Amino acid sequence: MNFENKELKDLLESIRYVYGYDFTDYAEASVRRRILHFMAYKKIEALDEFGKMIVRDEKLFEEFIQVVSVTVTEMFRDPSFYKSLRENVMKRLATYPFIKIWVAGCATGEEVYSIAILLKEEGILNRSVIYATDINQKSLQIAKEGVYAVENMKSHTANYQKAGGIESFSDYYKAKYNSVMFDKSLKQNIVFSPHNLAVDKSFNEFQFIICRNVLIYFNQQLQNKVINLFYESLCTFGFLGLGSKESLLFSEKRKKFEETDRKEKIFIKTE
Ligand SMILES: C[S@@+](CC[C@H](N)C(=O)[O-])C[C@H]1O[C@@H](n2cnc3c(N)ncnc32)[C@H](O)[C@@H]1O
Repeated sequence: MNFENKELKDLLESIRYVYGYDFTDYAEASVRRRILHFMAYKKIEALDEFGKMIVRDEKLFEEFIQVVSVTVTEMFRDPSFYKSLRENVMKRLATYPFIKIWVAGCATGEEVYSIAILLKEEGILNRSVIYATDINQKSLQIAKEGVYAVENMKSHTANYQKAGGIESFSDYYKAKYNSVMFDKSLKQNIVFSPHNLAVDKSFNEFQFIICRNVLIYFNQQLQNKVINLFYESLCTFGFLGLGSKESLLFSEKRKKFEETDRKEKIFIKTE
């Protein structure tokens, strides 16, 4: 089964109209693939049939969100990124009396707890607030709880160590049956909240914004719009951390940033 670009645009426009979720500027190939996958899973054969169903059935839409918003994540994902944060960003953040950080597209929270651990080890967690946002409410709920499968802890611990961690990683969580729960002291300074990068505005001024593996799902216009949002939301000399496959290439603001670490995609806003 395949469908025309116009049919896809119409479907995404109706979703935007009915639910206010704007996927019209997501990278087309990826949205197309996910819709086809979802339709096959639901045994829906035609796109117009799917279109009629999704605008009437909020539950179906909620399920669809889980598919479109890819939730894959891990703790200390790309350990060299976190190593660079330790070496190039943390000391500079420590010079601020009060530190505001935005983790945009935080998925189920593993990235947020990783940042909280870095801040704690730097001795600045207690004067930091981390705003962790995502469009996916289900993911945010998991993030808030901070409960994860015990079987993933081995790889998370290895990532932590590769990222320069020297503490005992298991001190940060308590294991119970097949799950682990991250320590309350890490959660205290985290505010979890829904925020849609495609339509919502800035809500504060930050010293550091992390948005990793989210822009890759957006087309060039939306990437530009989101980088503008980050630019407006950063203080001068604030840091921006992107994912390994992401860049400022499509942003009209790219000249207003300098590379702090080119390989790790860490930038500083210079004007
Ligand atoms: C692949 S995950 C990345 C998670 C984490 N940042 C990481 O690098 O491990 C992509 C996340 O982006 C979120 N997302 C997608 N579109 C979004 C939007 N318009 N606004 C906010 N978050 C969005 C998804 O819900 C998902 O949680």
